[in-house]
Amino acid sequence: MCGIVGYIGKRSGTKVVLDGLEALEYRGYDSAGIALIDGEKSQVFKEVGRVSGLIKTISKQSDVSAPLVMGHTRWATHGGVTAENAHPQTNNDQTIFVVHNGIIENFSEIRTKLEASGYNFKSQTDTEVIPNLIDFYLKQLDSFEAAFKAALADVRGAYSIVAISVREPNTLYAARLSSPLVIGVGDGEHIVASDPSAIMDHTKKVIYLEDYDVAVVTAEKVQVQNLKDHNRIEPKVELLDFDNEQAVLGDFPNFMLKEIFEAPATIKTATLGRARADTGTVKLGGLETVLRQLKHIERIVIVACGTASYAGLIGEYLIEELAGIPVEVHLASEFKYRDEPFSRSTVLLAISQSGETADTIAAIKKVEDFGVLRLGVVNAVGSTIARMTDAGVYCHAGPERAVASTKAFIAQVTVLALIALHLSDGKHPQFKPLLKELEALPAKAQAVLDSAEDIKKIAEKYANYDSFLYIGRNISFPSALEGALKLKETSYIHAEGCAAGEMKHGTLALIDENFPTFAMATDSPLLEKTYSNIQEIRARGGPVVAIATEGNKAIKELADDVIYIPKCEEELQPILQQVAAQLFAYYIASKLGRNIDRPRNLAKSVTVE
Ligand code: AGP
Ligand code: GLU
Repeated sequence: MCGIVGYIGKRSGTKVVLDGLEALEYRGYDSAGIALIDGEKSQVFKEVGRVSGLIKTISKQSDVSAPLVMGHTRWATHGGVTAENAHPQTNNDQTIFVVHNGIIENFSEIRTKLEASGYNFKSQTDTEVIPNLIDFYLKQLDSFEAAFKAALADVRGAYSIVAISVREPNTLYAARLSSPLVIGVGDGEHIVASDPSAIMDHTKKVIYLEDYDVAVVTAEKVQVQNLKDHNRIEPKVELLDFDNEQAVLGDFPNFMLKEIFEAPATIKTATLGRARADTGTVKLGGLETVLRQLKHIERIVIVACGTASYAGLIGEYLIEELAGIPVEVHLASEFKYRDEPFSRSTVLLAISQSGETADTIAAIKKVEDFGVLRLGVVNAVGSTIARMTDAGVYCHAGPERAVASTKAFIAQVTVLALIALHLSDGKHPQFKPLLKELEALPAKAQAVLDSAEDIKKIAEKYANYDSFLYIGRNISFPSALEGALKLKETSYIHAEGCAAGEMKHGTLALIDENFPTFAMATDSPLLEKTYSNIQEIRARGGPVVAIATEGNKAIKELADDVIYIPKCEEELQPILQQVAAQLFAYYIASKLGRNIDRPRNLAKSVTVE
C-alpha cells in the first residue's frame, strides 16, 4: 500500500525517485507526488492517477534536477483522491515537505490544536498535521531534528515518514512506526524507501529502520536514534539478497499470468535443499535455532490475512493430520482484539507474502510479552515480519507483483506441508508418500498450466454471471475459499466459498440457473459426498464447473464443465486445484477487461489496519 522514495546525494535525485515510484507501483495507489529541494529553491508536483502522468508533467519542466528529492504514491485513507490530498503535504509557508505512509490516528485532535494556534489546512488528509506540527515546534526549538522528534512524540498511529525542509537542503529526516522504511547506502548518496524494490537498482547495501527509529540522513552519513530507548544506535548495513530481474514481465501480458506460470519453479524452490524423498528427510534451516522449543508445542495459532489465511487453513489440516498438534487459524485483524487463553506452550505462526501487513504485524506484537515462540512463513526477505519473528521458513517465491496472490499461495502451502512433515518427525504413514509427491508436484503443476487454453475456454463461458459459489470438503474447503477470493478480486464477480456439506444449511437458497458453482471434486474418500452436493445444485438448475482428478469419467455426467488435474496425494491437491482456479479467475477477469495486476480499491501490501 502506498510508497515512499527519498534521495539525497551528489547527483540529481529526480529520476531515481521517479523510477523508484514506478518500481513501487505494484503495491497499489491512487495519486502520486514529488518534492525537490535545490538550495533555497523548492518545487512540488502532484497528480491524481498514475506515476506516468506525474513523469509527463515533470518532463515538461525546464529545471528539475535537485540533490534532495522525495516522492510518494498515495493510497487514500483520509480524504478523497485529489491532487490537494496527494503527498508531499506541506506546512503553511511551504518550507517543510512530508510524505507519509500509514495513518495518524489522533490527527483530528492535533489539527484542532494547530488551528487554534493559527494554522490553516488545505487538505483532508491526516498527514497534513505532520509538517505543520514540525513547523509549530520549530518555532520553539532550536533545530529541525528536535522539532521533528517533538512532532513524532505527539502523533499516534502507524507511519513511515520522510520530511525535508528548504532550511536544511542537505538533510533528509525519516521515521518509522509499524510501517516499513529502508535506507539504501550508495556512494555519496542515500536512498530512503518503503520497499527495497525502489533501491535495489542502485545499491544492495541497506539499513532497515526499526519501530521508533528516527534517521538523519545526509549524502555521506546516516545517523539513527531510537526514540524509545534513547541510545543512539550504530546502524547495521545489510545486503539485499534478491534483485529486480525476477520482477520483469518478459513475454507475459501481466504479472498475474506470469506468476501463475511460475508455480512449478515456486514449488521446486520452496522444497530445494529442504525435503528429500530418497533419504526421507525434511530439513528446515530457519527452524534449527528453535528445535528444542518445537518439541514441546501443544498448540499452534496461525495468524494471517486474505490468501495467506486460506493457506493457513490448509496448514491447519496438514499439521493436525501429520503432526497431531492442534491448530487454530485466526484472521490477524480479529486476533488482535480478542482475549483468548494463551499458554507458553502455544506457538504463534504468522503467514505473510509481503511481511508488511499491518494486521499481521499487530497480531505478532500482541503476543510480544507472552513469552511464546513466534514463527514466520514469509516471502519477502528482510521484511518486518521476517525480522520480528523468532524463527521461520522463507517461501522463496521471489517478488510477487500482481495484487492477487498466486505463486505466494503455492509457496505458502508447500512450506506449510514441509513444516507439518517436519513436526511429524517422520512418524506418520503419509510422511514418505508426501515427500515423494512434493518432488513430483512441479511437473504436475506444469501439466495443469499446459491445459491453460482449455481452462480459458471454460472460463470465458462463465464470464457473464454475477455470482459464483465455490465448494469443497476437507482440505479442499479452504481451497474453495481461496478460489472464491481470487475470482472476486480479479473479476469483481461476487463469489463465496462454502464447505460443500454446509450448503444445505443456508447457501443453497442462492442456487438457480444464474448462479454457477465451482466444485473442488478431486479424488478423496469424501468424493461421493461431494458428488451428492453437486447433485443438490444440479437439481436446482445451477451450472457446475468441477475440478476433478484425471481419469474420473463419472464427473462428466454430473458437471457441465470439468477441469482435470493430475492424480495427487489428497493433502497436496489444493496446490494443483489453485493453479487451475487461478487460471480460471484470470481468464474471466481478462475477458471482462479488468485491470488484472491492480484491481480497483486494492493494494498489494496492506500497511494500514
Ligand atoms: C491476495 O490475493 C490478496 N490480495 C490479499 O488477500 C493478501 O493475501 C493479504 O492482504 C495478505 O497479504 P500478505 O500475505 O502480504 O500478508
Ligand atoms: N493517511 C494518509 C493519507 O490518506 C497516507 C495514506 C497512505 O499510506 O498512502 O493521505
